[in-house]
Amino acid sequence: MFDERMTRLRALMATLLLHRDTGNKNAVKTEDSREDTMKQLTEILEHTANRRSFLKSSMIAGAAATVGTGILGSGLPAFAQATNDSTITKGDTAILRFLAAAELIESDLWTQYAELGGIGKLPPIEVDPHEKLNPYQVALSNLDSDGPQYIASNTLDEISHATFLNAYLASKGAATVDLTQFETLPGSTAKGSTGKLRLTNLMNLNVDTSWYVRYRSATNPDLGATFPQAINLDNVTAIPRSDADYKGEKNSNFPGNDHIQAIANVAAFHFGQIEQGGSSLYAAMSQKVTHPEVLEITLGIGGDEIAHFLEWVDFSGNGVQAPVAPFSDPVSGLTFPNFFSPLNPLIQPSLIFPVPVEFKPGLPNVSIIRPLTDQFAGAKAAVAALTASGLFIGQSAEFFSTLNELADAADAAKRGF
Ligand SMILES: [Fe+2]
Ligand SMILES: [Fe+2]
Repeated sequence: MFDERMTRLRALMATLLLHRDTGNKNAVKTEDSREDTMKQLTEILEHTANRRSFLKSSMIAGAAATVGTGILGSGLPAFAQATNDSTITKGDTAILRFLAAAELIESDLWTQYAELGGIGKLPPIEVDPHEKLNPYQVALSNLDSDGPQYIASNTLDEISHATFLNAYLASKGAATVDLTQFETLPGSTAKGSTGKLRLTNLMNLNVDTSWYVRYRSATNPDLGATFPQAINLDNVTAIPRSDADYKGEKNSNFPGNDHIQAIANVAAFHFGQIEQGGSSLYAAMSQKVTHPEVLEITLGIGGDEIAHFLEWVDFSGNGVQAPVAPFSDPVSGLTFPNFFSPLNPLIQPSLIFPVPVEFKPGLPNVSIIRPLTDQFAGAKAAVAALTASGLFIGQSAEFFSTLNELADAADAAKRGF
């Protein structure tokens, strides 16, 4: 069967070369025949069982080079080229649609953080060091005096990601993603909250803090390594649920109180979990993108997720060192030790950059984002991780089926299709 296809392919390639040499006379007819030939070629390529070994064939490499840019001009394999310039492949559409959903989810959760902990309309703290902050903003500022500004900025970024991806999909005639029908969850009633219904739940989180150890470890999750939690944060709130959460025991080591500080510390580790997941998700999806413009988009936005992640690595580390830590909150029962004491490189707060990790067998360790594979960083992995974190507690079965459908399609995407 494979030999039959190869024979047919050789004949089609010969036809294409012949067309190239016919010059301008009878140009329309030539273009028609070429299109027909390319169609047949595409069909065979799409049905070739072992495309990899086929593409290795020197016959094809040679022929493609001879046919030249007129036919394979976009740099894409012929079978991956969109039918016209304004469309993108099915795989690219699926990837962008899942990413749009992920960005809408990020926008929703970050908006909740921004309403209560963001800088809002206040000027930068450097401009007015005496401005009135609420206790949550104070606690976040104990981790970094620019914390409320970073939260506001991260939120704007996520909204821009979601808005851009949907606008891009629309510009290509593809279906956009709208999750507003699933904004059904009650949020915080604390002062500052708009009180609108939410897509995500930040008040019963199981924050996965293993990323904190993973990035300080030389073993790779894509190669099967697993990592312990840096700190156990189970069924905890990352935002003040009501004004009652603004109150707690005073602590002589920092402004504010133990209870709201514990909530801010939970948020700090959650910020890292979310933005690390975003960094890995974009890296996994980028490997499957077909069109160079879509790759430009996934690399561009993915880079912004990494920029966020780095800040939150540093930020969360400030909650587990002096002067904030060690401390305990009797209300939530949480304790945050000082991660510098005793010194342990797997949790050392100042190791904020990814430690070099095993990557490819026989090659040296290298500092990289990880995980990078679909299995651990793809769309379904992202949905599983977010679900396990409690972010969707209270969501409907329809929400999960919508999200899983988008994730299945994105993970099924392959470069070239
Ligand atoms: Fe984002
Ligand atoms: Fe993000």
